Amino acid sequence: MSFTNTIIPRSVEWKETYIRLLDQQKLPAVTEYIKLESVRDVWEAIKALKVRGAPAIGITAAFGLALAAKQYETENLDEFHSQLTRDHDYLASSRPTAVNLFWALGRLVKSVQGAVSVNEAKTNLLHEAIQIQVEDEATCRRIGENALPLFKDGDSVMTICNAGSIATARYGTALAPFYLAKEKNIHLSVYACETRPVLQGARLTTWELMQADVDVTLITDNMAAHTIFSKGISAIIVGADRIAANGDTANKIGTYNLALLAGAFQIPFYVAAPLSTFDPETKSGADIPIEERDSKEITHFGGQQIAPDHVKVFNPAFDVTPHHLIKGIITEKGVLSGDYQSEIQRVFKGEA
Ligand code: MRU
Repeated sequence: MSFTNTIIPRSVEWKETYIRLLDQQKLPAVTEYIKLESVRDVWEAIKALKVRGAPAIGITAAFGLALAAKQYETENLDEFHSQLTRDHDYLASSRPTAVNLFWALGRLVKSVQGAVSVNEAKTNLLHEAIQIQVEDEATCRRIGENALPLFKDGDSVMTICNAGSIATARYGTALAPFYLAKEKNIHLSVYACETRPVLQGARLTTWELMQADVDVTLITDNMAAHTIFSKGISAIIVGADRIAANGDTANKIGTYNLALLAGAFQIPFYVAAPLSTFDPETKSGADIPIEERDSKEITHFGGQQIAPDHVKVFNPAFDVTPHHLIKGIITEKGVLSGDYQSEIQRVFKGEA
């Protein structure tokens, strides 16, 4: 079965006067699309995790800035640029950790630098946003192709959060090899950690893998060690929100636990991410801003209060896995390993 023939919907689509967004907060119970008609709608959708996952956030923000600009009434280029800067900064304030957001917005701003009219600038913005989405699909497929040889027929692999098709333009990053394996009739089993507190693993990863008929088993996060031991997990693969210059990787909270477990069980721990998730300007994981979210994500479950009133809560949405725990970082340019500092410099030199 070809993945491209499966029915996993696209999370983000440009519709000329609005952005059509799959509401990931409603999944898996309801498959519902919402219309984003203003820059404020886009900001709120990103903030509220209606769209989430680093590449999908970047794509949505890019279309959001193109949509905002489309609505400017000015014909004056200086005024256009100052409105664009305002909306760029606004969208950039929606979430702090996934660097794809800033990378995509930066690409859009760069695309209007040589424009000689407001019309040309608006066209450039839209072309650049579409290009980011098109490139991401090809990139994710390459990541899948580069990851697949790391597994063999019959392997069971663990993952966390959702780094799948709906977190990107298509295919995903950490989930891409499972879709490609399906196309090639290679059997891989996925163990998906539920991913407290927002349950991206339980709600989204299982949902999209099941639609593509990929063998997936759901576990709670605290079952990881027992599952690695009792089910013979051969590797762990995760996505990323930001990779620092030395390879330290920010990803969904709980990822660091899995990397430590991989070390303890002597199985490989892989990160799969496009170059757009690397931040060579950030020296190490210590410099990556970690988003802290509403305490209600922890004190409430399905609308029900599960902790005492006024309990103190710490709710970081991400953690940082130190680079020495990572066996390989799988990118569209190949698998980086060993001395990440120089590997990352090498790949980015090739890009420049
Ligand atoms: O808070 P989220 O759901 O946006 O966090 C998403 C993740 O941590 C993903 O693993 C990461 O962005 C990679 S998506 C290809």
